[in-house]
Amino acid sequence: MSLLFKNGEIITPNERYVADIFCEDETITRIDRNLTAPHDAEVIDARGKYVFPGFIDPHVHIYLPFMGTSAKDTHETASRAALVGGTTTLIEMICPGCEEKPLEAFELWLSKAEGASACDFSFHMGVTRYDEVAERDFREIVRRGVASFKVFLAYKGALGVTDEQLYQTLALAKSLGVITTAHCENADLVLELQKKLLAEGKTGPEWHYWSRPPVVEAEGVHHLMTFAEMTGAHVYIVHTSCEEALHEAMRGAERGVNVWVETLIQYLLLDRTEAEKLSFEGAKAVMSPPLRDKRNQPVLWNGLRQGFIATLATDHAPFDFATQKVMGRDDFTKIPNGIPSLEDRINLYFTHGVKAGRIDLHQFVATASTNAAKLFGLFPRKGTIQPGSDADLVVYDPNYCGRISAQTHQMNLDYNSFEGFEIEGRPHVVTVRGKVAAREGKFVGEVGRGKFLKRGATHFSRPEMGWWLAGQVPRLG
Ligand code: URP
Ligand code: ZN
Ligand code: ZN
Repeated sequence: MSLLFKNGEIITPNERYVADIFCEDETITRIDRNLTAPHDAEVIDARGKYVFPGFIDPHVHIYLPFMGTSAKDTHETASRAALVGGTTTLIEMICPGCEEKPLEAFELWLSKAEGASACDFSFHMGVTRYDEVAERDFREIVRRGVASFKVFLAYKGALGVTDEQLYQTLALAKSLGVITTAHCENADLVLELQKKLLAEGKTGPEWHYWSRPPVVEAEGVHHLMTFAEMTGAHVYIVHTSCEEALHEAMRGAERGVNVWVETLIQYLLLDRTEAEKLSFEGAKAVMSPPLRDKRNQPVLWNGLRQGFIATLATDHAPFDFATQKVMGRDDFTKIPNGIPSLEDRINLYFTHGVKAGRIDLHQFVATASTNAAKLFGLFPRKGTIQPGSDADLVVYDPNYCGRISAQTHQMNLDYNSFEGFEIEGRPHVVTVRGKVAAREGKFVGEVGRGKFLKRGATHFSRPEMGWWLAGQVPRLG
C-alpha cells in the first residue's frame, strides 16, 4: 500500500517548502518535487494546503477512575476524536490508586487501549506509592517502554505523593534517564482553603478558583524546582495556567534546573468567568489548576512564542454534566475535575494562534507536535516529516470555516466547553502510519489499529530542541 501527497506546503519547526511526499506501508520514503505515483498508489491532492507532522497530545486521560467516578471516553471514542482533530499520537496518564500495584496498573491500562485505539499511544506512569515493590515495578515498566513518570503534588489522600515519595521518584527517574511530569499545586493549602470556603457556605463552582489561587500553583512549581535541583532530575510541569507558576519555572531554569513547561488550550482561550456561570453551568469549567484571569493569557501565548513553554496539550478529562459534574451540586470539591478538548485543540490553536498572528506556523508545529516527540523519546519517528519517519501526516485546510458544537463532536460527552467557537482551519486528511484515518471532520480509520509506542530513556542529557527553545532564559528582575 502506498500514498502520494502532491504539492502540499510542508511545515516543520525549521522548514517550509512545497513538495510531494511518498509513503510506503507505514513510513515516509521520499520527499521531492514532481514524484510520480505507482499505479496502485492512493494520491492525495494537497495543493493549497499545509502538510503538518501528525500532532501529539502529551497529556490525556481516557481510562481515569477519579473523584468517585470515571472519565466518559473509551479508547475508541477518544481516539476517533483525536484523529478527526489531527492528533495522531496521544500520551495517556496511568493513574493507579495508592493501594494498587504499578505493574498491574500498567497492564490494565495497556489492555484497555490495545485493540481499541485508532491512533498511536503511549503512557506516563503515575507514581502514587513508593516502596520496594513499587520501585521494582517502575524499573520494569520503564524497561517495557514507558519512559516517563507522573506525580501529583495535589490531590492529597488520593493520587498525591508525599515529599519523601517525590524525592524517591525523582532520584529513580534521574538514575533511569527518564523525565518526570508533575501536577504542581500545594495539596495542603488546597485542602485548608476548601475547608475554609465550605465552612463559610461558599459551595458553588465559582469557589473552586478560590481554593486553588495562582500562589498555590506557584508554590507547587517552586516545590518541584527545589526537589529537581536537589536530585538533578529532568522535570516537566503539566497544565501551567498562570504567570506566577511560569515565573517559578523560569527561576528554576535560571538556577540550572532541567525543566520544561506545558500549557493547555483551555488556559489560552477560557477564563475564570466560565466557572461563574449561573444554574451550576460553571461546573463544566471546573478543572485543576482552575481557569485563570484573562491577564494570564498573553503571558502564556508569549511563553509559547518565545519557547519557554514547550508544549500545548489538553489534559483531556471528560466528565459529563448530567450524571457526573452534578455530583458536586452542593459542594464544589465534589465536582469531577476536567475540561475535555482532545478533539478541538489543533483547530482552536491554529485559529487563535496562527491565524490571529500570535504564533507562527513553525512555533505551532513545534509546540503541538515536535517538542513533545523530542521530550518523550518519540523523535524522529513522530513529530517531523522526513524519510524514515512514520507516515503520520495532517493535510490541513487553512480556508475551512466552521463552528464547534457538542451536536457534532466525536467525544463521548454531553457538552463542549468551546460550544459556538468559530474555527478557521481543519484537517482535510489525517493519516496514521500510511493509512487515512480521518477526512474532513469524519473518522474513516480502523478502531484497534493504534499501536503502543515503546519509548526508550532519553533524559541522561538534555534533548536537542529547536533553536528558539535553546535560547537564554531571561532574567526576570
Ligand atoms: O482538572 C484536571 N486537570 N483533571 C484531570 C486530572 C489532572 O489533574 O490532570
Ligand atoms: Zn493534573
Ligand atoms: Zn491531567
